[in-house]
Amino acid sequence: MITAEHLDQYRQEGYFIVDDLIPKEMFEELYAACRRVKDKVRAGEVDVYTHWAAEKSEPWCIRGLIAPEFKEPLFAEYMLHKPFVDCARQMLGDEFRLGWIDLRTNPHHEDFPGGWHRDIGNKDPSLEEEMEILNQPVRDLRWYLALIEDACLQIVPGSHHRNRTEEERECLVNSPNSDLSGQKTIKLKPGQFGFWSGMTIHRGTMKKDVERLTLAASWRKCQADEPVAEKVDGRFEWRLKESVRAFLPAEMHIYYDRWRKLQPV
Ligand SMILES: [Fe+2]
Repeated sequence: MITAEHLDQYRQEGYFIVDDLIPKEMFEELYAACRRVKDKVRAGEVDVYTHWAAEKSEPWCIRGLIAPEFKEPLFAEYMLHKPFVDCARQMLGDEFRLGWIDLRTNPHHEDFPGGWHRDIGNKDPSLEEEMEILNQPVRDLRWYLALIEDACLQIVPGSHHRNRTEEERECLVNSPNSDLSGQKTIKLKPGQFGFWSGMTIHRGTMKKDVERLTLAASWRKCQADEPVAEKVDGRFEWRLKESVRAFLPAEMHIYYDRWRKLQPV
């Protein structure tokens, strides 16, 4: 159960870890569904939108889990599970929309280090710009569910409400794969959930021969008077197809439609 202490930790440190948010059977079904998804992508049977480690080598992020091609209605049902929707309402307000759901994995034959960054689309903003972004209300609720042990996510706790230090700036701009003082590995056991803020300084660092199999999901806050996007984010273009909406449970339509309304076509 997500408690007030968890939310407090999120505010102060930018993350929390929690067990037991879904029934054991749902975890087992999700595990099996994620294995099927990964197998189909690796076999070249389905590819809705996949991030490959290198030219058609191994996937590291598999999107499109709610698309009909995967034939896995469980993923949308999972997002709608009450603890996630309740937590989204608490953190984002009543109006939120479909964020994303995807499978994070890694190549098996090589290290796959992701560099330090914040999810703000600007590597080196001025100190004022940086604080302006960080001071905005929480814009998404994101969480990882580890299907097997996962120690890939590292964050700098508390970095989501302060400017980067000189050491962090040097690292983010010039050496994003170096270690940072204050870094913390978010270790998840199978079945554990890690909720965390993309405003923290963070990275995913995957190791050769250690499989990652983690289900990432998010709900996104609807801002008042949010303009229609100039361009569809290429990672989500597949969601425009009518067949995707038709495959979703009716309860998901309101969240899907709030996203759809902001797309230019
Ligand atoms: Fe990120």
